[in-house]
Amino acid sequence: MSKSSVISGFYKLPPEKRLAHVAEFADLTPEETQLLAQSCSLPIDVADHMVENVIGIFPEPLGVGMNFLINSKDYIIPMATEEPSVIAAASNAAKMVREGGGFKTSSTAPIMIGQIQVVKLKDAQTAKKTVLDAKEQLLKKANEQDPILNKYGGGAKDIDARVIDTTMGQMVIVHLYVDCRDAMGANAVNTMAEAIAPIIEQLTGGHVYLRIISNLAVKRLVKATCTVPKEAVGGKEVVEGIAYASAFAAADPYRAATHNKGAMNGIIAAVLATGNDHRAIEAGGHAYAALNGNYTTFSNWTKNANGDLEGKIELPMAVGLIGGAVKTHPIARIAMKILNVKSANEFGEVLAAVGLAQNLAALRALSSEGIQRGHMSLHSRNIAITAGATSDQIKVVADRMVEERKVNVNRAKEILEELKK
Ligand code: MEV
Repeated sequence: MSKSSVISGFYKLPPEKRLAHVAEFADLTPEETQLLAQSCSLPIDVADHMVENVIGIFPEPLGVGMNFLINSKDYIIPMATEEPSVIAAASNAAKMVREGGGFKTSSTAPIMIGQIQVVKLKDAQTAKKTVLDAKEQLLKKANEQDPILNKYGGGAKDIDARVIDTTMGQMVIVHLYVDCRDAMGANAVNTMAEAIAPIIEQLTGGHVYLRIISNLAVKRLVKATCTVPKEAVGGKEVVEGIAYASAFAAADPYRAATHNKGAMNGIIAAVLATGNDHRAIEAGGHAYAALNGNYTTFSNWTKNANGDLEGKIELPMAVGLIGGAVKTHPIARIAMKILNVKSANEFGEVLAAVGLAQNLAALRALSSEGIQRGHMSLHSRNIAITAGATSDQIKVVADRMVEERKVNVNRAKEILEELKK
């Protein structure tokens, strides 16, 4: 029988008891469990091999999003974030979605785009045709760069070319479409783009400058949908409020940016926990939202004929199970094990569901009581720590500030002084 990601009262448990539950859910070894329990689990020598000029480690809290049911499978989502309330909100929203049968997801093939910029051409249209006529030769050269990817069914699949007008004159932009299978793909794509560039120069007589992956991964999309029963989300009024919030964001870029940021709160926390490139996801998501010329939302919510809430999210998702820090970072490796995804596509689809849950939680709070009460009660703990509270004092000071509706460092210091007397 598959294990459930619903554990009653999970959030009230101390960290070590939560970890014990997750270890059981994900079959973590005693060594993996021990590593997670340590306050700093990235050895300095590993960090020193990951980036340059290392002087230390920057730790972030790692939590888990609970209650996720996606395509009838239970998931626990590792999430690394500094923002209070993100993990609790995602878990709450996932619980509501569960009552409507959970998330349904789908994705395209994991195709990334490599761009090759050809300039200084006598006739850009003729150069474009020359490149397209040499498609087979270019694909062959590209595929020679990565036999392993080919072995697993991936590799360069197609080539396209466009003429664009720029301030520096016309250019031909060649797009190389590469199926990256379970890799994020930047290394494979960049290597292939660099390998075919000299042939393109020779064929066109032009000059190639840039040869680089595009983060606007429109051929690598993930989608998640859900239906949330009106009773689960808080009733008819709440459904309407969320639909109005979504319509506002779809029509207004100022709101769309914040709406999308709300979804990214969840997506990026999970991407970060797994050692993937979160900047690529942010860039791709926002660029996709602006693809039709007006920046809008990549998720939306409507009321269906039954009065229930329907949600949908679709965005590029260039994540991998291999490459980058995914295998080198010890915690990323364990995070992947907790996630228990079998392919980069499944991983991307789970991330879409996390984004939709996070978005739902934000809109539900915003269109009813507002986010500040919940936010401040969690934020109050940070304020208490900033004022110097330790261990048991943190909760006492935080609770008092929330009760008084005065959440600031000065008040926290005063309460601490009172406690000392
Ligand atoms: C805060 O981190 C995220 C929200 O602003 C998202 C939104 O407004 O939808 C609450």
